[in-house]
Amino acid sequence: MAEWIDLEKLLKDRRTCRSFKPDPISEDVMTRLYDAACSAPSAGGFQRISIIEITEPEKKEALARISRNQNFIASAPVNLMFCIDGRRMRRIAEYEGAPYGQDYAICTLWMGIVDASISAQTLVLAAEAEGLRSCYNGNVVDRADEVSELLELPKYVVPAFMLTLGYPRSNGQRSRKYSRNVIVHRETYHDMDMEELYPQHLAKCGTPRFAVNDTRCAQLEKMLRRQYDAEFAEKAMARVHEQGYLTAYQYWFGCYYPSNEDAVMTAEDYRVFLKKKGLDLNETGL
Ligand SMILES: Cc1cc2nc3c(=O)[nH]c(=O)nc-3n(C[C@H](O)[C@H](O)[C@H](O)COP(=O)(O)O)c2cc1C
Repeated sequence: MAEWIDLEKLLKDRRTCRSFKPDPISEDVMTRLYDAACSAPSAGGFQRISIIEITEPEKKEALARISRNQNFIASAPVNLMFCIDGRRMRRIAEYEGAPYGQDYAICTLWMGIVDASISAQTLVLAAEAEGLRSCYNGNVVDRADEVSELLELPKYVVPAFMLTLGYPRSNGQRSRKYSRNVIVHRETYHDMDMEELYPQHLAKCGTPRFAVNDTRCAQLEKMLRRQYDAEFAEKAMARVHEQGYLTAYQYWFGCYYPSNEDAVMTAEDYRVFLKKKGLDLNETGL
């Protein structure tokens, strides 16, 4: 890694990659990346995380399948499963004869997610400095049980998200972002007027137009009826037919994500999963 890094350039150049060369990542490089991950701040300094490195082809293929068939996961050299880890703390506490924490499960979960995210993004930036690129993956939450089994995650350890790493096949494109005035609020929260917000939204998303067909319309209408009401759905669908395309939100939230409702983890499913992993959200530790 270069001794001096232009951080502004690094931040501006970073982009998600979904097509990787099969070239392996050397152990030296991986060591530097893990050192970066471990250097991140963490709640209380407890580092409630574990990272599972996955390079075995069969495991990578299983993870690609679990992640809604995102095949680049199988062709990339390394995948890292960032896990929320309440186990290490608990073991150390027991060894010392100490309590294992206050508000145990909820704190483990929240602080674990934050710790894992900061640690992962620190690693991502270190990876970019090494000429690598990456892709986060949140699908693993919907299939947390399967992931746990595949990676033999024991009690008190749950998958948070995955990061696919490798050398990019091409430079790809940097994604557009909302400008800071959409994101930053001064002193208190303010809703931006829709006349101001929506053009900014289109400037970020462009105007991707997803084709209309019967299956998509039926799926979208079903979701609109469920989340709003029949009148809202009817008006929205009339607009779709008039404009002749689906917007990005209509496609992603109306068609793509709900197309496999069985694979979605509900809050209740997740609560049950966590309890099975020893993380009962009602447990206070007190
Ligand atoms: C928590 C999280 C989960 C994500 N899951 C996926 C995923 O499953 N598949 C994918 O292709 N990209 C995934 N991404 C990448 C985002 O799509 C990407 O960050 C976003 O489009 C912005 O692009 P950029 O990273 O190039 O700025 C994920 C990103 C995050 C932070």
